[in-house]
Amino acid sequence: MQSAAGTPMSETPFKAHNSPYGSGDPYYSESTGFLGAQSGRRKGMSNWIKFGVPVLIVVIIAAVVGGVVGTRKHNSTTADAQSSQASASSAASAKAAIGIFPTGTNSQYMLPLYPSTTNSAAFTSPTFIAQSDAVKAWPSDPFQPANPAPTNLRTDRPRLIAPSYKWAALPDLIKNDVYMSAWNDTIFGNATDWYSQPVVQYFMDGDSGILDNCRQVKERVKAFAYVYRMTNDTKWVDRTWSELQNAAGNGSQPFGPNNITRWNPSHFLDTAEMTAAYGIAYDWLYDQWSADQKSMIISTMLEYGMGPGVTALTDDPQYWGWWKNNTQGNWNCVCNNGLTMGALAILNDDTSGTAEQLLGLTVPNANDNCVYAVTSDGTWTETANYWYFGTTAHAEMAASLMSAAGSDFGLLTTNPTFSMTGMFHMYVTSPGTLFDWGDHGPNKYSTTANAMLFYGDQYTKPEYTLFQRDQHDVAEPWSMFWYNPEVAGAFWDGRTLDHFFDDGLDQWASMRSSFTDESALAVGIKAGKLQGHQTHNDLDAGDFILDAMGHRWAGELGSGDYRSQGYFSNDNQDSQRWLYYRKRTEGQNTILVGAENQDVTAAPTVTHGSTNETQGSSTVYSVPSDSTAYWVADLTSAYFNVTSFKRGIRTLNARKQVLLQDEINAQAPIMWRMHTNATVSTDGTSATLTLGGETMQISLLNAPSGASFSTMNAERLSTDPAPPEPDQPNPGVTVLTIQLDAGEYTLEVLFNPQWSGMSASDFVTPSSVALDSWSLTSHN
Ligand SMILES: *[C@@H]1O[C@H](CO)[C@@H](O)[C@H](O)[C@H]1NC(C)=O
Ligand SMILES: *[C@@H]1O[C@H](CO)[C@@H](O)[C@H](O)[C@H]1NC(C)=O
Ligand SMILES: *[C@@H]1O[C@H](CO)[C@@H](O)[C@H](O)[C@H]1NC(C)=O
Ligand SMILES: *[C@@H]1O[C@H](CO)[C@@H](O)[C@H](O)[C@H]1NC(C)=O
Ligand SMILES: *[C@@H]1O[C@H](CO)[C@@H](O)[C@H](O)[C@H]1NC(C)=O
Ligand SMILES: *[C@@H]1O[C@H](CO)[C@@H](O)[C@H](O)[C@H]1NC(C)=O
Ligand SMILES: *[C@@H]1O[C@H](CO)[C@@H](O)[C@H](O)[C@H]1NC(C)=O
Ligand SMILES: *[C@@H]1O[C@H](CO)[C@@H](O)[C@H](O)[C@H]1NC(C)=O
Ligand SMILES: *[C@@H]1O[C@H](CO)[C@@H](O)[C@H](O)[C@H]1NC(C)=O
Repeated sequence: MQSAAGTPMSETPFKAHNSPYGSGDPYYSESTGFLGAQSGRRKGMSNWIKFGVPVLIVVIIAAVVGGVVGTRKHNSTTADAQSSQASASSAASAKAAIGIFPTGTNSQYMLPLYPSTTNSAAFTSPTFIAQSDAVKAWPSDPFQPANPAPTNLRTDRPRLIAPSYKWAALPDLIKNDVYMSAWNDTIFGNATDWYSQPVVQYFMDGDSGILDNCRQVKERVKAFAYVYRMTNDTKWVDRTWSELQNAAGNGSQPFGPNNITRWNPSHFLDTAEMTAAYGIAYDWLYDQWSADQKSMIISTMLEYGMGPGVTALTDDPQYWGWWKNNTQGNWNCVCNNGLTMGALAILNDDTSGTAEQLLGLTVPNANDNCVYAVTSDGTWTETANYWYFGTTAHAEMAASLMSAAGSDFGLLTTNPTFSMTGMFHMYVTSPGTLFDWGDHGPNKYSTTANAMLFYGDQYTKPEYTLFQRDQHDVAEPWSMFWYNPEVAGAFWDGRTLDHFFDDGLDQWASMRSSFTDESALAVGIKAGKLQGHQTHNDLDAGDFILDAMGHRWAGELGSGDYRSQGYFSNDNQDSQRWLYYRKRTEGQNTILVGAENQDVTAAPTVTHGSTNETQGSSTVYSVPSDSTAYWVADLTSAYFNVTSFKRGIRTLNARKQVLLQDEINAQAPIMWRMHTNATVSTDGTSATLTLGGETMQISLLNAPSGASFSTMNAERLSTDPAPPEPDQPNPGVTVLTIQLDAGEYTLEVLFNPQWSGMSASDFVTPSSVALDSWSLTSHN
């Protein structure tokens, strides 16, 4: 084990990208003074790297964090293992010398900007460095009950997520890890900002209830309690108390109704998140609260959170607790988690028996429901954005039970495919943003993708940890305890460019030309069922996104207004939800038949192929000339008045071009639709799209007679039935369309991104191949 280091940094070596997602970050640059990694023992930490203003010590530590699921190989004795350990250590050091990747400032998700470099020292296969006696990492938990039970808790505090042994180890880990050090600084900065802001103002936001309020309180409480524990400055305890008092309705302003519904149990997410916030405050600041304060916190939690929780979990399912029998998404996870964190925090101090009763209900309920929000291939049943809410809650619940009671009680393993959900997140993340189908969810606040760090450690998936640690939302108290600093390598090294998710609920495909170039080509396309997504989906079988040259050329409209009447009514064919443009089939990048919505009972089938390239160590990567991927869906069942309909998409020409092909036989008029933020001009069977200075040429090959491109506004058709409330406008969005009478057609739409340095003759014009005959070589 060794330290690695650099010298103060100067000019950025990052590639200037032709990208709206950011062109590098002025405060960041790669170390020019990396002294080289050495294998073998830790050599101390005499070298320094400068990262902006703060000076960070960079040393990589290795050891083993116990996990309930992953069993790692320790103390290997073979020469091979020793050498692989040494290279993993070197990789960790080399990455530390590079520092944290800068954050893209323009991308919707502020995705990292990966350096444009070959660095085979740093960017090795993802791994966790195995234990070595010369290195330090998290110590193992001294609390190891022989027969864990959710009500048999450790005797020391804190109980939730971060027991005292972890706090004791933390300062040293921070000093030795470039990531933890930066996150700690950010948490202090965020806490300082919130310290001087007024307490969270009550705001009842229609169907979203007071969820934002509750998550803001939770976010603040975590940061205040963290900073208190790192400084012993009681001003943070006092500030936490003001926030708790306010949320109990005991502050200087009202907070909700003055009765049992103060935390809005009819939208139980709110109740659960506030209960979690209270639980964290109670537990992390336990030694600081007076006996009076403790009893006030407990009485408030029981009255507005946990009492309603018992009602929800034991009464008629339609009353506050409809979610207790629901496997379709985040609700069951969030509700059970909040109640569990609250109950673990006050168990034994609560003389009412409520905490104990709740733990007997929440743990089995989450194992029967929450864990099945992940399908057989790792996809989150709601949407790519709702993944954040569900996994944050699931990870908090598992981590809290593990720290407080010594076991996850099955939450990590009951659904054997749960461990794949980190992979879902990696593939649903495109070069600039997510393949963000369906609803995007409320504000995230206390919700992040940091479950990736927890799952990375628990499931021994170092690539999850590596993926998340450079993301913009990583710095918050959970990452300080979920991050396993023994990780080494690069998430992309050895990762296949394409992945196909075949579970019938959400069949979808992710194809790309690179994981590390934000200008890369990327295609996302989906089929799947149109019911069973917690009414967060759209009627969008066949919907696709296309990214290239740093832009999204075919994109999503996102959520409608959650407060609109009927928006969440149900997912039946006649639901009011399907009257809103953004949710209707015409609001998607697919084919519309007879101006009608798709059939909610759709059950598409898919086939696909890939040449299966994996990206290597380098971030500078070009696929081989015959590299390709394709995906074909039979979407006939998604339509009325359609005899047959198959849609296929493939990459061409070493993933520089894309062909979208539809073979449809319909007894009602057909409309091909694609939503874009680009400026569009059309000329018969050609369309030219420009966006951020880049150009995409689109052509309709072998066009059926009468077929040509035209444009429309991104708004409802005049023939549509009226929605209960107006649609949201879609400013800047144009719909590119092809309109045809009823009949049988093949539509071959070729997308040619005008990559810099590529001339007209470098593009290929594919021959016409029926979808049933598509193969990896059919278009060579
Ligand atoms: C955490 O960050 C704060 C604020 O930057 C700093 O004062 C403190 O020393 C850091 N803690 C450690 C252990 O480095
Ligand atoms: C925390 O601070 C960082 C750095 O200043 C900032 O980018 C981030 O938006 C803040 N986070 C929140 C939740 O306010
Ligand atoms: C805070 O107090 C605890 C308990 O007395 C002590 O162990 C810890 O070192 C103190 N931390 C700081 C930053 O002063
Ligand atoms: C709680 O108070 C609100 C507002 O005053 C009222 O509408 C509601 O009916 C009350 N609920 C209960 C359970 O008392
Ligand atoms: C708020 O005030 C009520 C009524 O005095 C009291 O029962 C409760 O414990 C208080 N809660 C907090 C957190 O101050
Ligand atoms: C859960 O819901 C499903 C479908 O709504 C229903 O068939 C089942 O009986 C319910 N189970 C329980 C235990 O309520
Ligand atoms: C247009 O850009 C906005 C902002 O980046 C994005 O949210 C939206 O998805 C884009 N719309 C389309 C149709 O690409
Ligand atoms: C690519 O991988 C898939 C899944 O492992 C496999 O079925 C397929 O045959 C592979 N394709 C090639 C060209 O090797
Ligand atoms: C399409 O099918 C629907 C539902 O069966 C029917 O109501 C409608 O009239 C049909 N439209 C055309 C143009 O055939």
